[in-house]
Amino acid sequence: MPPAAMAPALSGDAASHTVAKARRAWTARFRAAGIDSPELDARLLVGHALGLDHAALAASATRILVASEESAIAALGNRRLAHEPVARIVGTKEFWSLNLRIDAATLVPRPETETVVEAALAAIDTCRGRARALRIADLGTGSGAILLALLSELHNAFGVGTDLSPQALAVAHDNTRRLGLTRAAYVACDMAAALHGPFDVIVSNPPYIGSDNIAALPPEVRLFDPRLALDGGADGLNSYRAIAAIAPGLLAANGVIVVEIGAGQAEAVAALLAGAGLAPSPPRPDLNNMPRALVAKKGS
Ligand SMILES: C[S@@+](CC[C@H](N)C(=O)[O-])C[C@H]1O[C@@H](n2cnc3c(N)ncnc32)[C@H](O)[C@@H]1O
Repeated sequence: MPPAAMAPALSGDAASHTVAKARRAWTARFRAAGIDSPELDARLLVGHALGLDHAALAASATRILVASEESAIAALGNRRLAHEPVARIVGTKEFWSLNLRIDAATLVPRPETETVVEAALAAIDTCRGRARALRIADLGTGSGAILLALLSELHNAFGVGTDLSPQALAVAHDNTRRLGLTRAAYVACDMAAALHGPFDVIVSNPPYIGSDNIAALPPEVRLFDPRLALDGGADGLNSYRAIAAIAPGLLAANGVIVVEIGAGQAEAVAALLAGAGLAPSPPRPDLNNMPRALVAKKGS
């Protein structure tokens, strides 16, 4: 961490180091450092350091902190000043209302990836499929986010998640166990190399950043998300080429594949899937109105 980014424990008037004052002080530091959501981050980190949830933190506003608590808060605050995302500091991230554990081997699940879950559920709904014993594959499952979100909605479905990273799969497995979603299994392999199918639904949020564009990403991403989760090759499309090559052989008749796409990739990815004999629909936008999920169907 650069020395300039370090901040000491609160200084000055020792008698009034309350919880509320710590929150205000760290909010100000985060704001001065240009961090996007300074107030929220300060609340989450102070709460995490003290082991207090939102309500308990509010109720403790006037409590005086002891020195060890100030040090614990400062340790977390300094990590945030070094651009480590809050989710990595606290070790969990909420996705589709599921509390997921993450670690250094897993991407932090993004809110926009919920668009993939929505698109998959919408595609399943068009054939009244929610009650069916659907077979789902999640290629590049990371923390298990997409697969676990789907299994939480589809009570008779079974899923398998793959990843090149055994460490990520250990996290996915742990999330599965903690959430009690026992209908998921995991296998370490290159995309779907160890899978046979047929699958009714294939989902994937593959690495899709062009290799040369990674250096320009915000530090929260480029310094902390695993490169394996980001790097999509020279043009960002390598994973989609691999997926297009294998998806038709893995999908059941009338099966669907749903992939997350990055900015400007919708046409190229749709062309890859269409070139493999699948029928892509127009992309589904995320909450920022960016094309985010592409659904393609296999014929009967
Ligand atoms: C963008 S992350 C998505 C993680 C998770 N699905 C999510 O949405 O939060 C891509 C994931 O694909 C994995 N991955 C990268 N290349 C892979 C490959 N060739 N085969 C299987 N998994 C791969 C990475 O380890 C990473 O976990």
